[in-house]
Amino acid sequence: MQRVLSGIRATGKLHFGSMMGAVQNFVQFQAADDTECLYFIADYHTLTTNKDPDLLRTNLVEMVKDYIAAGLDPEQSIIYAQSSVPEIAELCLFLGMLQPYGDLARTPSFKDMERRYPDDLNHGTFTYPVLMAADILGPKSTLVPVGEDQKPNVEIARELARRFNTRYNRDVFPVPGMLDEMVKVPGLDGGKMGKSDAKNAIGIDMSLDEIQNKYRAGITDANRVRRDDSGDPDKCLSVYPLHRLVTETEGRDLYPAQGAIADQCRNATIGCADCKALLASNIHAILAPFQERRRELEGQEDFVREVLHEGGKKARAIIAPTVEEVADCMGITRY
Ligand code: TRP
Ligand code: SF4
Repeated sequence: MQRVLSGIRATGKLHFGSMMGAVQNFVQFQAADDTECLYFIADYHTLTTNKDPDLLRTNLVEMVKDYIAAGLDPEQSIIYAQSSVPEIAELCLFLGMLQPYGDLARTPSFKDMERRYPDDLNHGTFTYPVLMAADILGPKSTLVPVGEDQKPNVEIARELARRFNTRYNRDVFPVPGMLDEMVKVPGLDGGKMGKSDAKNAIGIDMSLDEIQNKYRAGITDANRVRRDDSGDPDKCLSVYPLHRLVTETEGRDLYPAQGAIADQCRNATIGCADCKALLASNIHAILAPFQERRRELEGQEDFVREVLHEGGKKARAIIAPTVEEVADCMGITRY
């Protein structure tokens, strides 16, 4: 049996990039045979940067609504808050004893935090990957779908699994796999959408007008100055890659392009303004049904709390026995 697990920090709203990348992946696994899916909100991890308790509380519930609207189904997946399973924190402590200091100091996400917030680094930031390893190994996950930036952290979990099994000479943890390629969605500045600067992102709650306005400033082929200049779609960093993802994908009920966008760009039969307007309409067409489901969840906090309560119970029933197994391997007795 495949056990798929992934987590997201409760930092705010979902955006179009994570919806098309991460969440679509999560949704696909739900429907697969012999697959159990665990998707959680990493509220402990959120505490490495969040200092506002009310914000964490609201973000968590609002994000669960976003994920359910985007297709995560509490009947098919175990949806929970990380902190509903306090055994994860104990597992983090145990795994920390097998984690070399130097590897953590070299982790890209830590070095990034060191560079960005040199005066605001805490112990939680440093041990972030060990807590992730506890998330991953607690349920004995076999597959962890994450984007490129999280792969070094999952690699640490893989190493911990191997190290634990070897040190205690017991086959406790499977070594979880990763996906080769997650869909990468560029933001308006050509970088990854939603990365460190939400200004480059399309919010999933945006209206057609708002999306259109955002794309007015999107980066296109800088050499294409006049309408009859021919363009190079490969140099159009924020518009063309999204057309490839959105417009030139079969089976979507969208505003069709008159032929391939790339050809029309090269032979200047489409102007950048029209090209962007078409993209905005198509993004909005994908978002519209999501926005409707999201509206239906407005005011449904009780339902969300119930989802998290049930999910937490299920996750705990899976994870707590692993933590006992680990404690026992390491020589801890519960008196
Ligand atoms: N660190 C991940 C992120 O920032 C979130 C996360 C926490 C996670 N624990 C995890 C992802 C375990 C995958 C598996 O996106
Ligand atoms: Fe980009 Fe479209 Fe303009 Fe070509 S026509 S440069 S693909 S916005």
